[in-house]
Amino acid sequence: MCGIVGYVGHRDAPSFLLEGLHRLEYRGYDSAGMATLEDGVFSLRKKTGRVLELGGLLKTDPLKGTMGSGHTRWATHGQVTDINCHPHLGGDGEVVLAHNGVIENYTKLKAKLVALGYKFITETDTEVVAHLLAHHYRDQKKLTPENGPKENATLALEHTILMLKGTYGLAIMFRDLPETLFVARQGSPLVIGVGDKEFFVASDQTPFRGYTNDVVYLSDREIAIIEPSGFEIIHRDTGVTAPSITTLQNVSEDSDLGDYPHYMLKEIFEQPISIENALRGRLDEDEATAVFGGLNLTAQQLRRIDRIVLTACGTSWHAALVGEYLLEEFARIPTEVEYASELRYRNPPMSDTTMVFAITQSGETADTLAAMRECKRKGHPTLAICNTVGSTIAREADGGIYLHAGPEIGVASTKAFTSQVTVLIELALFLGRMRHLSYPAGRRLIRQLKDMPNKVRQTLECHDKVKQIAEKYAGFNNFLYLGRLYNFPVALEGALKLKEISYVHAEGYPAAEMKHGPIALVDEKTPSVFVVPQGGIYPKIISNLEEIKARGGPVIAIACHGDEQIAKLADDVIFVPEVEEYMQPIVTSVPLQLLSYHIALLRGCNVDRPRNLAKSVTVE
Ligand code: F6R
Repeated sequence: MCGIVGYVGHRDAPSFLLEGLHRLEYRGYDSAGMATLEDGVFSLRKKTGRVLELGGLLKTDPLKGTMGSGHTRWATHGQVTDINCHPHLGGDGEVVLAHNGVIENYTKLKAKLVALGYKFITETDTEVVAHLLAHHYRDQKKLTPENGPKENATLALEHTILMLKGTYGLAIMFRDLPETLFVARQGSPLVIGVGDKEFFVASDQTPFRGYTNDVVYLSDREIAIIEPSGFEIIHRDTGVTAPSITTLQNVSEDSDLGDYPHYMLKEIFEQPISIENALRGRLDEDEATAVFGGLNLTAQQLRRIDRIVLTACGTSWHAALVGEYLLEEFARIPTEVEYASELRYRNPPMSDTTMVFAITQSGETADTLAAMRECKRKGHPTLAICNTVGSTIAREADGGIYLHAGPEIGVASTKAFTSQVTVLIELALFLGRMRHLSYPAGRRLIRQLKDMPNKVRQTLECHDKVKQIAEKYAGFNNFLYLGRLYNFPVALEGALKLKEISYVHAEGYPAAEMKHGPIALVDEKTPSVFVVPQGGIYPKIISNLEEIKARGGPVIAIACHGDEQIAKLADDVIFVPEVEEYMQPIVTSVPLQLLSYHIALLRGCNVDRPRNLAKSVTVE
C-alpha cells in the first residue's frame, strides 16, 4: 500500500527510482511521482495513472541527480490527482518527502501549521509532515546555529516524528543537504540496500534486485541518515544503533512476467512448483511427521499448547479457516480463527498455553501485524506463516514457517493460498504426531502431500473448460459460491476472487445455510458455483444443489473426475482430480482462481491491478 524508493550515490538516481517504482507498483498504482535535487532546487515530476505514465513524462521532461526519492500511491487522503501525488514539498521547498502510511492527527497539526502561515496545496495527510519538518528545521537552525545542516535536520526529524500519530515510512531530502537521504519508519516497512558507496531505499527489497543483496531492515521508531560514504541508524529510545546487515540468498528472478500475459495467470500456473517448495525438506518419512526449522519452541512447549488462534485477513483468513478444520481433525487442538482487524482491538480470554499464528503472504498487513503484537504483548507464543522473507511480521514473530512460494505480484492472492493450506496440513501433521496421530496415519498424509504438486498439475488441465464456462457466464452480475466442510472456505475464497478482480457481486456460503435466507437470491440470473467433490457428505451437498436447481438457478459444479451424477444435475461442470477431503482446498480453489481470471478479462478489467486495491495493506 504505497511504495517508496530512494537512492543516494553515484549513479543516475531517476533510472533506479523508475525501475524500482515499476517493481513496487503492486503496492499502489493510482499515481506516481519522483523528486531529485538539481542545482540546489528540488525538481518534481508527478502523474496520475500507472508508473508507465510517469516514465513517459520523464522521457519528455527528464530529471537529473544522484539522489532522489519516488513514490507509487494508493490514495488514502485526497483524490487521485497530480497535485496529491508524492513526493511533497515542505516550507518553501526546504524539504521534500514521500510517505507510506496514514497520519491520524493530521487535521490538528494542519490547523496549527496554517495558523503559523504554512500554505497547503494538497489534500493529503503527508503534506503536514513536510511542513512540520520544514518548520522544525527552521526552528532548529535558529536554536542551534552552531550545528551543521545535517545535525539540525536530524534534530528536526526527531522532533517531527514525536508529534506524529499513525503510521509512516518516510524518505526525506533537505535542500541544504545534497548528499543526505533520511528515512524514518513507524508501522510501514522500509528496507535499506547497501551498495558500494551508494545506498538504495525501498518499501521492500524487490527494487534492489540486480543492485545489491545486502539489506538492512529498518525497525519501528528508527530513523536512518544515509550518505554515499555510509549510514547511521538512530532509535528513538536507545539512540545510535549498530545496523544488522542481512545478505539475501537467491534474490529471486520470479518477479518477471515471462511468457504470461498477467502475473495472476503466471502465479496460478506456478502452483505445482510453489506447493513443492512448501513441502521441500519438511517431510520426515521415518518419523511420519513434518519438520520445521524455525518454530523456535521446544517440544515441551509445543506439547503444552492446548489452544491455537489463527489470525489473518482476506485470502489468508480463508486459508486459516481451512487450518482450523485441519488442526482440530489431526492435532485435536481447539482452534479459532480471528480476523486480525477485530482481534487487535478485542480482548478475548487466552490462556498462556494458547499459541497464535499470524498467516500472511506479504508479512506487512497492518491489521495482522497489530494483532500479532497484541498477542505477543500478552505473552503468547506468536508465530508467523508468511511468504515474504524479511517482512516485518516474519521478523517480529517468535518463530514461524515460510511458504517459499516466491514473489506474488498479482494483487489477487492465488499461489499463496494453496501454499498456506499446504503448510497448515504439514503443521496439523506435525502437531498431530506429537499427540494422537498414529504412525500409519502420518505416513498416509505424507504420501498424499507428496502427490499434491502432481494433482494440481492435473487440475490445471481444466483451463480450457474454465475459459468456455467464463464466456458463458461473464455477463452475469451476481454469483453464489457454495461448499461445505473443507470446501466452505474455498467457496468464500472463490467469491472473493471474483469480487476483487471482476467487480462482480459474489457471496460465499456454507451450502446448507442457503435455506436460512440467501436462497431467496436464487433466480435464473444468479449462477451458483458449487464446490462438490467426493467425500463423506457428498449426498448432502447434492441435495443442496438440487434445491438451487428447483428454483431455476444455473449451477456450475466443481466435481471429481468420473462423477456422472453431477454431469446430469449441473449446467456446467469443471472436473478436478480426486484427493482426500482435507486436501481438497488445494485443488478445488484452482478452477475458481481461473474462473475469476477469465471473467475479469472478458469484462475488460485489469486483473493484476484491480481498482481500489493494493497488494500489501499497510494501513489500518
Ligand atoms: C485477496 C488478497 C487479500 C489478502 C489480504 C491479506 O486476493 O490478496 O485479501 O489476502 O490483504 O494479505 P496478506 O496475506 O499479505 O496479509
